Amino acid sequence: MKHLVAPSLLAADFTRLAEEINMINDSQADWLHLDVMDGQFVPNISFGMSIIKQVNKICAKPLDVHLMIERPEQYIESFRDAGADIITVHYEACNHLHRVIHQIKSTGAKAGVALNPHTSVQLLEDVLEDIDMVLIMSVNPGFGGQKFIYNTIPKVRRLKDMITVKNVDVRIEIDGGVGLHNAESILQAGADVLVAGSSVFKADQPVEAIERLKAIGGEPTKFA
Ligand code: DX5
Ligand code: ZN
Repeated sequence: MKHLVAPSLLAADFTRLAEEINMINDSQADWLHLDVMDGQFVPNISFGMSIIKQVNKICAKPLDVHLMIERPEQYIESFRDAGADIITVHYEACNHLHRVIHQIKSTGAKAGVALNPHTSVQLLEDVLEDIDMVLIMSVNPGFGGQKFIYNTIPKVRRLKDMITVKNVDVRIEIDGGVGLHNAESILQAGADVLVAGSSVFKADQPVEAIERLKAIGGEPTKFA
């Protein structure tokens, strides 16, 4: 299956939010990635369900909500009501991960689990068949514009092997420091979804930046 591209709104110009979302609507972006930060799980605060609700009114693409928050189980239904199509919680933030995964699925949303750079993919062995996606953090979560941690690439390969051996339908999403300089090796390792914040929204031509990320590995376009 062709890989997906999910631009991260965190890097957008919030004074021109509607324009930025319309740019996404008119682009080849597959999903819009939304980073929710609570100032507890990560040392930064971003936005919450009320902003996502507004975004949902004008965004034509599925909303991929990445919860970098403590106690995510308290807010799953609210994020679903706000319009989340995919809800990803952190392994490190859940004492009862299996329960939270099924809570997400009971709302009708797809369920993802995110792993910090230091967290081993082996820890998902016993829930892999319950989830739709694993988000591998390729930076320490909390901020956009950080440098990609290259150790992520063998980690993706290990996860891909686990998925193949178990023969489950689980997507691998990579988040942090992703751009044209590293996307090809990330995809070759087995990733299915590229999250890209700065490399899209800070580009001179964001629509073309998305198109170039989509064109990697075939189906070339005029920008490839
Ligand atoms: C980091 C967030 C990322 C971030 C990516 O905590 O989870 O989604 O927006 O931004 P870039 O692509 O700039 O690293
Ligand atoms: Zn994210």
